[in-house]
Amino acid sequence: MEKMTIENSVSFLPMAMVLVGSLVEGKANFMAVAWVSAVNRKPPLISIALGPHYTNKGIEANQEFSINVPSVNLAEETDYCGCVSGSKVDKSGVFELFYGKLKTAPLIKECPLNIACKVYQTLTLPSNTVFIGEIIETFAEERHLTDQQPDMLKMSPFTLTMPDKNYREIGKDIGRAWQIGKNLKERG
Ligand SMILES: Cc1cc2nc3c(=O)[nH]c(=O)nc-3n(C[C@H](O)[C@H](O)[C@H](O)COP(=O)(O)O)c2cc1C
Repeated sequence: MEKMTIENSVSFLPMAMVLVGSLVEGKANFMAVAWVSAVNRKPPLISIALGPHYTNKGIEANQEFSINVPSVNLAEETDYCGCVSGSKVDKSGVFELFYGKLKTAPLIKECPLNIACKVYQTLTLPSNTVFIGEIIETFAEERHLTDQQPDMLKMSPFTLTMPDKNYREIGKDIGRAWQIGKNLKERG
């Protein structure tokens, strides 16, 4: 099949949806974020790429933020937090909140996975600010774990796909990672 060039985009890979929380002027605020990525194992670092949003004010002032992983039943609330700004609408009551050690990283009770971060490094790019957070605490509920580890089938997070702009849940298993590739080696 012949290849043709298409539009360049940074958004063509499926992206996990999260809700980033910060405390802005003393009030919890959450925004929808698709640009989230693991960047280092030890120390555990995770990055979020943000445009110039209201949320940033809180992160910059407190040097703390939260990453909350919503399950599919929170798709509407997640989208809402991506459609309206805390500068105009108070989003502090959309979810039930709790706090861990980091008192300016608001966490969402309804989300099955909550990650509280301290800013480790901030990178200023032409249109985005990348906040690299060191994970200080992670919260989950027993019912979403298997062998004390997060179980994605129980948590049921969802992704964003572009350019169709759809939220999609995780699909069926197609094989074990770090394992099925060995079949090729064995076949020679
Ligand atoms: C599906 C979806 C994904 C989004 N992903 C990002 C993102 O990765 N980075 C970003 O800066 N904004 C992203 N946004 C936009 C912000 O969530 C949106 O502008 C939000 O209203 C900002 O909230 P705030 O003004 O209260 O901080 C996304 C919005 C949606 C709906």
